[in-house]
Amino acid sequence: MEVTTGFLEKYNTQGPRYTSYPPATSFKTGMAANGFINAVKESNRSKPVNISIYIHIPFCTQRCFFCGCNTTLFESDEKISRYIHCLKKEIETVAEHIEKNRLVTQVHWGGGTPNSINLHHVQDVMGLLRERFTFADYCEVAMECNPAYLGFKDIDQLSVTGFNRLSLGIQDFHENVLAAINRRPPLNDIGATIKYLKEKGFEGVNIDLVYGLPLQTKESFSENILKAVKTDADRVVTFSYAHIPWFNPEQNKISASSLPGAGEKLAMLVDAFNTFTANGYINIGMDHFAKPGDELSMAKASHSLHRNFQGYCTKKTTGQVYAFGSSAISQLSNCYAQNIKLLDKYMSSIESTGLALERGYFLSDDEKLIGDIINEIMCNGYVNFESMAEKHITTVQHIFKITRFEQSKLDMFIADNLLSFDGNTLNVSPGGMLIVRNIAMVFDPTVTISTNRHSQTI
Ligand SMILES: C[S@@+](CC[C@H](N)C(=O)[O-])C[C@H]1O[C@@H](n2cnc3c(N)ncnc32)[C@H](O)[C@@H]1O
Ligand code: SF4
Repeated sequence: MEVTTGFLEKYNTQGPRYTSYPPATSFKTGMAANGFINAVKESNRSKPVNISIYIHIPFCTQRCFFCGCNTTLFESDEKISRYIHCLKKEIETVAEHIEKNRLVTQVHWGGGTPNSINLHHVQDVMGLLRERFTFADYCEVAMECNPAYLGFKDIDQLSVTGFNRLSLGIQDFHENVLAAINRRPPLNDIGATIKYLKEKGFEGVNIDLVYGLPLQTKESFSENILKAVKTDADRVVTFSYAHIPWFNPEQNKISASSLPGAGEKLAMLVDAFNTFTANGYINIGMDHFAKPGDELSMAKASHSLHRNFQGYCTKKTTGQVYAFGSSAISQLSNCYAQNIKLLDKYMSSIESTGLALERGYFLSDDEKLIGDIINEIMCNGYVNFESMAEKHITTVQHIFKITRFEQSKLDMFIADNLLSFDGNTLNVSPGGMLIVRNIAMVFDPTVTISTNRHSQTI
């Protein structure tokens, strides 16, 4: 199915990203350590039973002007050693309350740039994780890498350390765009790097592109898409760049006049959708694409795709997320807990107490149910309300009441062929997945009023 910008413009409003429900903007400060530890203990009896681990490395060798991640410039190896010591102390504190018979099915290293620190630090932390937890044979061990610092020998070492998934931050293949965002070009050709990763047994190799960056045009982004297809990546994400320098002052270094306009940005997204799908990729959710044989595409086809703060994953490997490091967010079935963002404050808190909570949120049963519905829409584009009611031991009437659902709210989507609804089953069409945040908003009782706290839905 080919899409057009006209159809997207109509739905381009403000709305939550739904990386979590309720969104991170609702988290409250002052989460007590004992409340979090009790939630960790309860999570031993929660579903899914698996364990997902997130490790945040807030260091980069060079700061890209567009970046929205929590990161600082590399200062010294002493500081990194101190940070690694804190990470290990935090892991020890939390692991003490997690039952040893539960299986780790995902480990995700994000940042910042985890591949910019010396690999012996990574090996040190992985060694501790293997001591404290039981890893499943099929555990996914992933790292977000900046290809400017990723050589073939680094890939060898990551493979030996147990990594089997890699995501490469490309952003744009053109050197003028990379220079405008203060970013170094990749160390090696991306196609050759991906070929090597696959030979080494890495699966689900992902590349990140960003549209809306300075000096990009519809034509230059079109070249990016074709180059991405040529790299043979298993997965591609096309993130939208939002220029918000009042919120992220580093972005002031980007001249607003060098940015593509809103219409041009939408045209880039549409081009990505049409070209990736025409080249055999499956659109697995908004701006994510995967090859048909990739496990994310297969999970989408069987309605078993899931999402957490680290991105899309399958229900098979999804677990309660225990997150370590500054700004990291643990995502347990009963609560979200985010660590202190400021690096020095995070380290001082860990050194004195073993934990560094900044804010969090305890979910009610109704919020868990609403979150489950929104997650199903965002990931699988499919909800069977009777099965959902059964799963949460409630009724369909109760679901419709707490979500303030009225069938008329779906009329416009149905008229535009973006979804079908028979009173019990909601099915989002492939085109509807591009505006899936708008569809999810129908079931979110908290978003009746549009506020400036949210980003554009497309
Ligand atoms: C932690 S970074 C990836 C690893 C590594 N630091 C790198 O830059 O290659 C995660 C991804 O977030 C995306 N990202 C970062 N800042 C963004 C922004 N302001 N808008 C859209 N995407 C952004 C980029 O695509 C980036 O690859
Ligand atoms: S985009 Fe990646 S490398 Fe650049 S500053 Fe952000 S986290 Fe660091």
